[in-house]
Amino acid sequence: MIPSDSPPSSRQAEPFPEAAARAKEYLRHPDLILCSCHGIPAETVATVIRRSNTRRVADVSRVCTAGTGCATCRPDIAALIREITGEEPDWTLDEGPMLGGEWV
Ligand code: FES
Repeated sequence: MIPSDSPPSSRQAEPFPEAAARAKEYLRHPDLILCSCHGIPAETVATVIRRSNTRRVADVSRVCTAGTGCATCRPDIAALIREITGEEPDWTLDEGPMLGGEWV
């Protein structure tokens, strides 16, 4: 049971702690490659997040293609969203399969 005088937690537990650590590193070194499938540096992903103010991983992927290959970098995109916006990332996927970086 959680004591009623506990401070409210605005953040859920980080589901990918390694990705959270990498997100901090990406902000310190924006030239690091976040998505190796497409060679997308963290700076590009961070710019998309800041300019669109999105919390949705699929939105970031649609704009810059990061996360549209093997998808193993999606937790890093989500962690960067969390780090930049201070909000929980939205994992909602777009409708339909994705082929060649384009939703069909
Ligand atoms: S590393 Fe980003 S899609 Fe594979």
